[in-house]
Amino acid sequence: MSSANAHGGRQDSSGSPGVIRLTVNGKRYEFKVGVDVMPFTALRELLRDRLGLTSLKEMCEGEGVCGSCTVLVDGRPTLSCLTLAVDCDGKEIETVEGLAESGHPLLEAFSRNYAYQCGYCTPGFIMSAKALLDRNPDPSYEDIVRGLSGNICRCGTYAAILSATREAADALKARRGGGGL
Ligand code: FES
Ligand code: FES
Repeated sequence: MSSANAHGGRQDSSGSPGVIRLTVNGKRYEFKVGVDVMPFTALRELLRDRLGLTSLKEMCEGEGVCGSCTVLVDGRPTLSCLTLAVDCDGKEIETVEGLAESGHPLLEAFSRNYAYQCGYCTPGFIMSAKALLDRNPDPSYEDIVRGLSGNICRCGTYAAILSATREAADALKARRGGGGL
């Protein structure tokens, strides 16, 4: 029997350390709070430093203004630098590595459109775009601008990012038409 503890993890009645369970890109993980993960550990640190998901970037040093650390938590774009790992107990996390494994068209579209220069912002933009296309498969230009408004590209590749996102929407539509999704 377990119950939520003060730090968001679960603690059983014997007083053993709380644990958090996350599903990351379809794989299930369990971490002991206070051992594997501290109550103050940011989700970004857990994913990048512990699980080796190096797509996660930190362009604004955790100020919450750049969006380069964006991941999806239960389908919602989330700043992993400002999110405590223990608060994600029981949740599903998606990163660019998961999209690469599933062959999501956003990756090819970003590449074909040269939608990056240094590439530091790219994973965050791709995850915001993924969330947008999940909830709106046929976004207008304005929808895309709004959907990606939480992300910043210091290299100024915005026009290509918008084109890539629209191209990925078309590719997904073609797949659905062909019964692929
Ligand atoms: S690193 Fe900039 S918002 Fe998270
Ligand atoms: S490609 Fe360099 S910050 Fe966006």
